[in-house]
Amino acid sequence: MKNKVRKAVFPAAGLGTRFLPATKALPKEMLALVDKPLIQYGVEEAIAAGCEQIIIVTGRNKAEIEDHFDISFELEQLLEARGKKDLLSMSRYISHMANIAYVRQKEAMGLGHAVLMARDLVGDEPFAVILPDDVIDARVPCLKQMIEVFEQTQCSVLATQVVEGPAISSYGVLDCTEVKDNPRLFDVRALVEKPKEEEAPSRHAIIGRYILTPRIFEELRETPLGSGGELQLTDGIKGLLASEKVYGYSFEGTRYDAGDKLGMLKATVAFTLEREDLGPEFREYLKSLNL
Ligand code: UTP
Repeated sequence: MKNKVRKAVFPAAGLGTRFLPATKALPKEMLALVDKPLIQYGVEEAIAAGCEQIIIVTGRNKAEIEDHFDISFELEQLLEARGKKDLLSMSRYISHMANIAYVRQKEAMGLGHAVLMARDLVGDEPFAVILPDDVIDARVPCLKQMIEVFEQTQCSVLATQVVEGPAISSYGVLDCTEVKDNPRLFDVRALVEKPKEEEAPSRHAIIGRYILTPRIFEELRETPLGSGGELQLTDGIKGLLASEKVYGYSFEGTRYDAGDKLGMLKATVAFTLEREDLGPEFREYLKSLNL
């Protein structure tokens, strides 16, 4: 097994039902957060973390994702003719930013199934999984923080955040113990999927960033389909736990669930306020609302 995380898998074949009707024809991963599609934030994070190959798992109605990362001749010609140099270099940057391979998930049979589709492209090496609708605002990119943990431990790493109250029952939750001298790192004993609040083994909820060893593919192949005929990634990780150590890592930063309407609105406010070109005016506008 190679000990470097070079590849990042982006499952993007889901149906995006929480964001209907916007996602009826438009892939959820192409929804704009300020002025950039969600998936571009994730791809930029993977590159900043040192990943060399991006693997996007797509499905039906997902052609826009490929088009976005492809060269747009007409647009580039037009921008060149109009002397819009900044926009032209931005368009070229997007089409050259990464080495991207696509694989198709013919039916949305769950996150675990989507990851399994990337098996041949990943091969026998550790890899990252980024859920593009989880957008993370962090000083050090979340995946980079996780890769540092992987380099020290050579084990699978699951990013977590603390979730208080009944919202915990929407997540996979760690049953874990804190690693000595590292309050951000947890030794995972078990995973409990969507527990009732009173039955949650901890407050550490799994979010959309994973580093996984290639053994996960064998586990996923052997995992029976779960509820709704879907293959869950957490069920595969439970299998992994039987033979390997798995760590939880409480990353430094803020995560927004931009696949959810309210989450997207919160992310829009936070990311706009941080922008030099939009932030000051937007801040004044928000103040003027006197809420
Ligand atoms: P979500 O559960 O957030 O996505 O999966 P969803 O199913 O598309 O959305 P809702 O809940 O109906 O609104 C997280 C990520 O996993 C991908 C999704 O595209 C999303 O990026 N996914 C999910 C797949 O690629 N295939 C699947 O079968 C399911």
